[in-house]
Amino acid sequence: MDRSILILYGSETGCAQDVAETLGRQARRRRFKVRVLAMDDYAMENLGNEKLVLFVCSTTGQGEEPANMKKSWQFLLKKSHPSDLLQDVDCAVFGLGDSSYRKFNYPGKKLYRRLQQLGANLIQSRGDGDDQHYQGLDGALLPWIDGLWANVMAKYPLPDGVARILDTELLPPSYSLTFMDDVADASLLNEPRNQPGEFDMTVQSNTRMTAADHFQDVRHLVMTNPSDDFSYCPGDVAVVYPENLEEDVNAFLEQMEWAHLADKFVYCQPNDKDKALPHGWPAAMTFRQLFIKHLDIFGVPRRSFFEMLAYFTTNPNHVERLQEFITPEGQDDMWAYCQRPRRTIAEILFDFKPLSIPYDYILDLFPPLQPRSFSIASSLKAHPHTMELCVGIVKYKTVLKKIRRGVLTKWLATLQPGNVVKRVRIVKGTMDLPPSDVPLIAIGPGTGVAPMRSFLEERIATNANDNVLFFGCRHQDKDYHYKDEWETYAKQNKLKVFPAFSRDQTVKVYVQDLLSQQGALVWDMIDEQQCKVVLSGSSGKMPDQVAYALKTVFMQHGGLDAAEAEEYFNFMNKTGQYQEECWS
Ligand SMILES: Cc1cc2nc3c(=O)[nH]c(=O)nc-3n(C[C@H](O)[C@H](O)[C@H](O)COP(=O)(O)OP(=O)(O)OC[C@H]3O[C@@H](n4cnc5c(N)ncnc54)[C@H](O)[C@@H]3O)c2cc1C
Ligand SMILES: Cc1cc2nc3c(=O)[nH]c(=O)nc-3n(C[C@H](O)[C@H](O)[C@H](O)COP(=O)(O)O)c2cc1C
Repeated sequence: MDRSILILYGSETGCAQDVAETLGRQARRRRFKVRVLAMDDYAMENLGNEKLVLFVCSTTGQGEEPANMKKSWQFLLKKSHPSDLLQDVDCAVFGLGDSSYRKFNYPGKKLYRRLQQLGANLIQSRGDGDDQHYQGLDGALLPWIDGLWANVMAKYPLPDGVARILDTELLPPSYSLTFMDDVADASLLNEPRNQPGEFDMTVQSNTRMTAADHFQDVRHLVMTNPSDDFSYCPGDVAVVYPENLEEDVNAFLEQMEWAHLADKFVYCQPNDKDKALPHGWPAAMTFRQLFIKHLDIFGVPRRSFFEMLAYFTTNPNHVERLQEFITPEGQDDMWAYCQRPRRTIAEILFDFKPLSIPYDYILDLFPPLQPRSFSIASSLKAHPHTMELCVGIVKYKTVLKKIRRGVLTKWLATLQPGNVVKRVRIVKGTMDLPPSDVPLIAIGPGTGVAPMRSFLEERIATNANDNVLFFGCRHQDKDYHYKDEWETYAKQNKLKVFPAFSRDQTVKVYVQDLLSQQGALVWDMIDEQQCKVVLSGSSGKMPDQVAYALKTVFMQHGGLDAAEAEEYFNFMNKTGQYQEECWS
């Protein structure tokens, strides 16, 4: 019997990839021949020839599929496919999402339905991971995995006389790491060429916009690229790879007793011909560079990190604790130890000393650094060859009273003019620019103003001057981003701006309050003038509060009842008259 299994993932920030790799390890223990690939790295036209395929896909934007499965999804949607295309293929689908979003797990749901339409045999009902579950993703994943293997093993039993590889046995490493004093073949050190849509950006300035005594440091980052191919549209998003700071990496290497290796070159080779190095990695680099540019050591780890670490800690009590963390019963304990205080990988390694980590397992243990997205805050019409970002530097105190810094923004805050930010990828966001003759209501509190600045600069450069901006911040004189620009546009009659300063008076005022106050104008623009409404900023409560304020306006100024207001708002969403790009 053919016991090969293909595991395909679509992942934006690495969670679905991590689940796919976990499934891959579990399949290896069950003696399957395993391939784990991003969906778009697999030749989808061969799908009908596979026996057993597991799909793991997350959700991004507003119910959209991740970038690395878009091509495959388009292929599967082709109308020309016969309804028995996948009749010989056993499949299962696990979706990752967050039920606080309106379109919960849409790609997983749509993929499951499409596989059914194409005749696939779904051997397990769909799993819907939900960040809102009190155990996070694992709440749905762990029971789904149990059911999956029961079904798979019933159909693909182990050959006679062959036993499952026990969990206590460490699987072979995915990569081999060879240390060298020198690299004879210098081409091994070359970073792969940028792919289409990726650009190296030179920093021109990195300016703090908030007052020095304000609690948050928000940066206006200006970067340029001289190429004629460099292009983006308002509403697009820049995807940026972070780096760890050299001094932090040096301290980490000391902690791990690896400092003597820091300047040695390390050559990384996948052990499996189907596996490649992650995108953008050179084949060889110094050990220090591996941790500066590629491996996440200061992020909060996922469950799979604890699973791996259990093999490398030598204290039996530590092994027991780590193994407990990865069981369904140990989830609360792991949450209290790791997620709640947002403990970093480096801190966890310190807690579980002594460690014995064979070098070949380093790439299995440490997750790759994941890129972060930023709404572009400029227009090429106003700033040719330039991309500007508006970035809040993440710094907060945990329940342990420890100061935590965001992985990317800690590095971004150090960028100086002349530094080059490599491989910035430009992708479409969830909002787009309306035609010039359509008025615009832009709602962008905090750094949510970033894409609004891009829209407004572009529109004003093309004489589309019917614009309204609702901005929100704490204090007029501390964090009113781009205040001078808005006031200049307002004087030129190109913009009406309504700023909400939540803490400048005893009663708190937010953008949703100003929307209600300006209800007559808002209703007239939406209903009479058919304007476009765009919203950006925090994905917490704000989007729902804005939606509620808009529906209240529809009732008070449009005479709709509650059900009609709801329907009106849903229709705006459906037609794209209302769009939002929000993040946590
Ligand atoms: C489409 C899109 C567009 C975006 N546009 C922008 C933009 O224009 N400007 C911008 O600044 N950001 C934007 N972001 C957010 C950005 O991608 C990063 O998430 C952000 O910069 C933090 O990255 P980091 O690596 O510094 O932090 P990380 O190391 O990833 O840490 C962030 C995490 O820390 C935790 N955290 C943060 N603050 C606290 C707190 N006070 N208490 C407890 N936990 C906390 C949260 O769990 C949070 O998810 C956007 C995100 C998306 C998806
Ligand atoms: C910017 C952003 C947008 C998201 N949009 C949705 C959504 O519309 N629906 C949903 O169910 N989950 C949504 N999610 C939740 C993710 O799908 C979920 O966190 C998932 O675990 C991420 O997996 P990944 O790291 O593999 O991309 C969103 C998450 C982010 C960061």
